[in-house]
Amino acid sequence: MGRNSPRSHREHGEKLKPVHYRIAQTHISLQPFLVDSRDLMNTAKDHSPLVEFRDVSFAVNGGPPIIDRLSLAVERGETMVLLGESGCGKTTTLRLVNRLLTPTSGEVVVEGKASTAWDPIQLRRRTGYVIQEAGLFPHFTVAENVGLVPGLEGWDEARISARVTELLLLVGLDADKFSQRYPRELSGGQRQRVGVARALAADPPLLLMDEPFGALDPLTRASLQKEFAELKSRLGKTVIFVTHDVREALLLGSRIALMAAGRIVLLRTPQEFATSDNKLARAYLETLRSEFVIAP
Ligand SMILES: Nc1ncnc2c1ncn2[C@@H]1O[C@H](COP(=O)(O)OP(=O)(O)OP(=O)(O)O)[C@@H](O)[C@H]1O
Ligand SMILES: [Mg+2]
Repeated sequence: MGRNSPRSHREHGEKLKPVHYRIAQTHISLQPFLVDSRDLMNTAKDHSPLVEFRDVSFAVNGGPPIIDRLSLAVERGETMVLLGESGCGKTTTLRLVNRLLTPTSGEVVVEGKASTAWDPIQLRRRTGYVIQEAGLFPHFTVAENVGLVPGLEGWDEARISARVTELLLLVGLDADKFSQRYPRELSGGQRQRVGVARALAADPPLLLMDEPFGALDPLTRASLQKEFAELKSRLGKTVIFVTHDVREALLLGSRIALMAAGRIVLLRTPQEFATSDNKLARAYLETLRSEFVIAP
């Protein structure tokens, strides 16, 4: 076992310094996350993409393709933003990764293995999924929602409880106040934070985030975007992040895949995207400029 493997950290008694991190006016420790993700990064010698779409099409009942010959490699540790207007196939693309859908043709390769060759349950436990509108289980408390996957993974109760507390703090919620509440007793923004905490719970290497900040007021949204931008680089996760907000795409993406009608029409870094002469990209960028024009 390598020196940087999870066990060797414990065997050598190495201690990573806690990092104090400001989230939503709360000072918290990120130490448990750093231990996990540094181990993950140090031991990751594999430079192959974590997720690769190979000429993937998806259609329902022989209808027109919803996803149309899509090819895309998502590198380890990057945040790939899927940007595009409503109905262009962003959610469908995410659902093809964790095998909620399977391609009509082509293949989606996750960690070197076609999605169809994965045990779907194993695959979903390795992919934290934040769905549009948070998708919490209404009859589970906040703590039960967040602790769901660790519970399925067989963690003992004390470990789950400690993890739930850490994660709620991480997303800016006071565990004493919120852990025993039900989703209906939360605001939309609080539900979305719980959704993010749940996706991170078992420290999966891959996060699929479908407009996770979509239903938030602009101030909360901006603050969560900023927090997430810092958080994701610290955690070393690979993220596929769906949005139709170009500002969010530029802030969070290491690359932006611009989608239209089930295809990727442009794949660029944020810097390249900002200066692209692609017509659709320009139209998105134009929305940033026109945002501050006040009607007479
Ligand atoms: N099960 C289905 N059967 C038929 N059509 C579907 C099905 N699921 C999705 N679609 C269609 O596929 C297209 C892509 O849907 P998808 O949910 O991926 O869009 P999206 O880019 O996530 O949009 P939004 O930004 O509104 O969430 C849409 O036109 C949608 O109506
Ligand atoms: Mg969608």
